[in-house]
Amino acid sequence: MSFSFPTETIEEGGAKVVVPKLSAYVKMPQDYAPSKAPVFYNPVMELNRDLAVLALQAHQKLLGREVSVCEPLTGCGLRGVRFAVEVEGVRRVFLNDLKPEAAELAGFNAELNGVAERVEVANEDANLFLSRHAAPRKRFDYVDVDPFGPPVPYLDSAIRSLRNGGLLALTATDMAPLCGVHPRACLRKYGGKPLRTEYCHELAVRLLVGCLTMMAAKHAVGVKVLFSHSVDHYVRAYATVDYGARRADKSVKQMGYILHCFACFHRETVSGIVSPLKRACPSCGAKLSAAGPLWLGRIADKNCCSQMESEAKQRGLRQEKRILKMLSLVENGTEAPVTYYVVDKICDKLNLPVPALKKVVDRIEEAGFQAVPTHFNSRGIRTDAPADTVKEAITELAKQRK
Ligand SMILES: C[S@@+](CC[C@H](N)C(=O)[O-])C[C@H]1O[C@@H](n2cnc3c(N)ncnc32)[C@H](O)[C@@H]1O
Ligand SMILES: [Zn+2]
Repeated sequence: MSFSFPTETIEEGGAKVVVPKLSAYVKMPQDYAPSKAPVFYNPVMELNRDLAVLALQAHQKLLGREVSVCEPLTGCGLRGVRFAVEVEGVRRVFLNDLKPEAAELAGFNAELNGVAERVEVANEDANLFLSRHAAPRKRFDYVDVDPFGPPVPYLDSAIRSLRNGGLLALTATDMAPLCGVHPRACLRKYGGKPLRTEYCHELAVRLLVGCLTMMAAKHAVGVKVLFSHSVDHYVRAYATVDYGARRADKSVKQMGYILHCFACFHRETVSGIVSPLKRACPSCGAKLSAAGPLWLGRIADKNCCSQMESEAKQRGLRQEKRILKMLSLVENGTEAPVTYYVVDKICDKLNLPVPALKKVVDRIEEAGFQAVPTHFNSRGIRTDAPADTVKEAITELAKQRK
């Protein structure tokens, strides 16, 4: 088959697909080739797709039956074709893209990989496509919403298109709003206020899940987050949807605010949707800033992480080492407190030399608190210790160096 634009064949995971030849679309150094090409393909998202394969396989094994899968914004079809090729127990994959060239290429790639019989390709608006499946016996077990920017415009129809217990995967690439650079845009899109703190990537995940929670609640659907992560320019969340008003109420109860003190690093959480009254920092008296309403519940599930880990070890993925490290960090942090401290940020403020992360972790543990590293920041520590204890640990370590 010939295409009206330059193409090349690449391999990723267990799939071999034809994609636009990105080098043909870089005219200026600042050009972002994936969105200049007539069909979207971004090699940098391999890790995102790898983790999606692992999460879907973990979910399928948990369900213990064949599953139907949907990728409503598929681009060249690579993600969906990988689901069909690499994930056991996938009965059917539904791919869709608004661009006719993308739908055509996705169909071609399904054939190239010998999975065309199980892959159906459509060419319409994603919301229309999802809504056509929002009926009994037409719904999916897994929906992967991977757009440019926010996934919010597709949330409502994605929730409606999922079976009870189905898994929804969401990518958000609009990090400027989510990390507090454009707070008004975040409030508008996600219904929560961000904050430009050192743990803004965790806030981004919590704002995204918070938005999903409130949207799902309107349909009397509760959510449970199985896995989430942040990488470079995007965040990702995987959550199951559970039908029932009580389940929805339970999820809404996990919404709240994170209050942060920019003067002394103190932070605390307040449950509830109603905005907390303006408060002073209990540690230093400065005015606290608030992020939210957002999701204060767990942002990953231990069982899901360990199932994904065992799947990752069997596949020989190119980025296996990086994936296993991330999965183990996420797994170890599942029960850790909300937010994390960034050692370098504290050292900067206190004008102290930067100690090894492990030493700070050990010191906080010696003081009787929980302390674990986080995948969100290689210099971050999740702990139930108050900010003063973290600062003391760092100050003590600095003194020892003298
Ligand atoms: C970021 S790309 C998808 C990448 C793909 N999920 C992957 O893993 O390689 C987003 C895609 O959404 C498509 N798109 C944009 N708006 C759409 C809409 N309203 N309905 C369906 N597809 C749409 C674009 O054509 C593009 O191919
Ligand atoms: Zn304070």
